[in-house]
Amino acid sequence: MAEVCAQKSEPGPRTSHDAIQSTARLRAVELVRRMRGGSQPWLVRCDDGQCYVVKFQNNPQHVRVLANELLAGRLAQLINLPAAACAIVDVPAYLVSLSRNGWLEGEVRPCAGLHFGSRFVGDPEKAFVVDFLPSRLLRAVRNLRAAFLGGFAFDKWTCNCDGRQVVFCRTTSGEGTGYHALLIDQGFCFNDGDWSFPESAARNFYPRRLVYECVQGLEFFEPYLSAIENLQISCLAACAQEIPPEWCGGKPEKLDRLVEELFERRKRVRQSVIDAKNSELKPFPNWR
Ligand SMILES: Nc1ncnc2c1ncn2[C@@H]1O[C@H](COP(=O)(O)OP(=O)(O)O)[C@@H](O)[C@H]1O
Ligand SMILES: [Mg+2]
Repeated sequence: MAEVCAQKSEPGPRTSHDAIQSTARLRAVELVRRMRGGSQPWLVRCDDGQCYVVKFQNNPQHVRVLANELLAGRLAQLINLPAAACAIVDVPAYLVSLSRNGWLEGEVRPCAGLHFGSRFVGDPEKAFVVDFLPSRLLRAVRNLRAAFLGGFAFDKWTCNCDGRQVVFCRTTSGEGTGYHALLIDQGFCFNDGDWSFPESAARNFYPRRLVYECVQGLEFFEPYLSAIENLQISCLAACAQEIPPEWCGGKPEKLDRLVEELFERRKRVRQSVIDAKNSELKPFPNWR
């Protein structure tokens, strides 16, 4: 089973400033449809021709979910995890008023302004994108190690208080070539709207434990563990800098502290993985 995780072709992390490109700022041109999910996101077509899953400032969870998505999404990309590309999406007032009709009871109506967008993986017309795979296909996911072991170290670091969520994708013409996993829904990193880091050894496991069967030791979480440990604080700050102040729940100055805490806790991720291994859940049955 170890071979499943030992995908040599997976690229290594980037930790230098050169890797930090600015987040795309786009204008929404069409509200396509509601997506599932507690934050009541929408699939939105933007002026780059791509579709994005957009979470709105007035979502029913917390406005900081948008800040969390952008910061965690950027950090994940910095260490080369397969995370959905992020964007800041400007939704003009006319689009919201165009879609005035057809709201369901209890639905939050999107408001105009700047919102968070997660680029829809592939063309919605030409790609199979699913939230769930049967075990046989899950075992064969091409980037299993990056998504689930790198993702686990990342979730420990960022204190993701939601279960790990991924989508699996393949092109409609790519039957038999296997699926790729993409990390999505980083909204509850940094403990949701709280921006704190309550520790729990029992948190962050993907519910389908077969993704951990290959783990035989700490080295299976590389190169992501080392990439987190070696991050420079200036890289973290550069990722945080782009967050629109209105996504910070009235206290944008708290972002500086969040960045400092992330920087401080990066050296403790290794121990968190060991604590998880020793937890009652025994998530890594093949650890030697
Ligand atoms: N980048 C993406 N590409 C494809 N599908 C996505 C992407 N982001 C989200 N989705 C889909 O949208 C759904 C809702 O997104 P999610 O971020 O989980 O919202 P919530 O925070 O409300 O749970 C997901 O279950 C997934 O099916
Ligand atoms: Mg979700």
